[in-house]
Amino acid sequence: MAIQEKIKELMDLREKARLGGGEKRIDAQHKKGKLTARERIDALLDEGSFEEFDMFVSHRTHDFGLDKQSFLSDGVVTGYGTIDGRLVYVFSQDFTVFGGSLSEMFAQKICKVMDKAMKVGAPVIGINDSGGARIQEGVKSLGGYADIFQRNIMASGVVPQISAIFGPCAGGAVYSPALTDFTIMSKNTSYMFVTGPKVVKTVTGETVTDEELGGAMVHGSKSGVTHFVAEDEQEGILLIRKLLSYLPQNNLEDPPLAFCDDPIDRLDDSLNEIIPESANKPYDVKDVIHAITDYNEFMEVQRHYAPNMITGFARFNGMSVGIVANQPNYLAGVLDINSSRKAARFVRFCDAFNIPIVTLVDVPGFLPGTTQEYGGIILHGAKLLFAYGEATVPKVTVILRKAYGGAYDVMGSKHLRGDINYAWPTAEIAVMGPRGAVEVLHQKEIAAIENAEERNKYVAEKEEEYRKKFANPYVAAKYGYIDDVIEPRNTRFRIIRALQSLATKKDVNPPKKHSNIPL
Ligand code: HXC
Repeated sequence: MAIQEKIKELMDLREKARLGGGEKRIDAQHKKGKLTARERIDALLDEGSFEEFDMFVSHRTHDFGLDKQSFLSDGVVTGYGTIDGRLVYVFSQDFTVFGGSLSEMFAQKICKVMDKAMKVGAPVIGINDSGGARIQEGVKSLGGYADIFQRNIMASGVVPQISAIFGPCAGGAVYSPALTDFTIMSKNTSYMFVTGPKVVKTVTGETVTDEELGGAMVHGSKSGVTHFVAEDEQEGILLIRKLLSYLPQNNLEDPPLAFCDDPIDRLDDSLNEIIPESANKPYDVKDVIHAITDYNEFMEVQRHYAPNMITGFARFNGMSVGIVANQPNYLAGVLDINSSRKAARFVRFCDAFNIPIVTLVDVPGFLPGTTQEYGGIILHGAKLLFAYGEATVPKVTVILRKAYGGAYDVMGSKHLRGDINYAWPTAEIAVMGPRGAVEVLHQKEIAAIENAEERNKYVAEKEEEYRKKFANPYVAAKYGYIDDVIEPRNTRFRIIRALQSLATKKDVNPPKKHSNIPL
């Protein structure tokens, strides 16, 4: 065969591979409002940067007539490319080939890119759109999943792993995304569940739709399984690109430093007025976040889940940071099971990837009651405590208003190796709020006053006395638990100075196999 013919053969084979399961199935994919596996990769990566591996791989199964049905690439497109010029490894499941179901060879292709990503220290992005294990392949497919899980586990904390769910993701297949750092789901076209509605109906008698059982908003707001809910795939892809801009390539690198011409000493007068006169009145902590970060930008993580705790990425003078903040606007910013888990996971991610943590505190304490106790708030609260105490990245904390009880300790306090701890003059640092404290300390006296008016007056006086004594930042500052009390409008500058001073921070934990975080 002449070289031209050989090249033509190559081109024809490539063309065939690019068609996946064929035009008809591609049309069906588009009709559902979904992109194909290759279109997704093209949208995700810098133009022309994709280098594909294993295009000519096909399955090696003969059962169930599969010997007569074979597609080049075998249902997953894999390789590497760049995002904003930085190397990433990708795999994108192709629903047009056997419904994107996972075969032995399909799994091997994914494992190959994961292994390469680990060797060179680059993030892995997986785009999921699959009917799960390829039924015809039986245990080979199950083994393939487990091979991927094992790599997810080994890569955890070494290279960032991001999963996009742009179609079905069912059965044990959900566990690979769950093992990664961030998942992104697109509204209306993606769902995740360990067992679909039909089996649910058989086993529990419950009638639910795909969307109700495992749609994007369900996992974005109720289960917390997904970190980002995108309106559609295009938005999801943009979110992945943006997210990566905050992250280092691997655990041995620092996050990229972005250009910044937002003045570091930009004052924001609104912050001096943001704390309401009444201690029980809410305000939106996101207004504080936006006021202090570079260009007022904040990429929120898990926006719809446990909104009493805010987590997300921002920059200070170009430095990437993770922000954790209590949200007084929702449940008074109380710490409960979900918010503790949410923040703990985020803190651990930041620590694994050398991203400093800035904590903004306004928390009335842990949520009391049987629901929380039966649900294990003790364990879940301990997760957050553990995460902060274990973290060795720079930790800067600002107490805006309330820091009551155990919640004071938990939220990045000095005692959990907080590096620089500031408080606004409005801070109240105490074992509990004035009302609760007075009721405990003076219960006998209060009970002895029969006249209601007099009783209220007495309580108010005692509360004021307590507030003056404890509900301020100066007692904590007296003991050095607070490094300085700062003017709210100057918070951006003080945080940036603190982060700059901590840029070369080194802190280590004692050698151990691994810790035993209260899971
Ligand atoms: C082989 C599959 C397949 C699978 C779909 N297909 N799932 N082939 N193995 N698991 C094929 C279909 O035969 C069809 O082929 C094509 O993909 C598209 O499927 P449709 O059913 O026509 O598409 P749609 O109506 O959109 O429904 C998609 C679906 C459904 C919801 C994903 O196909 C489905 O329920 N599939 C089975 C899901 C499942 O139970 N998987 C096993 C989960 S358990 P043609 O030739 O017509 O195009 C599991 C264990 C993993 O994954 C364990 C890991 C630890």
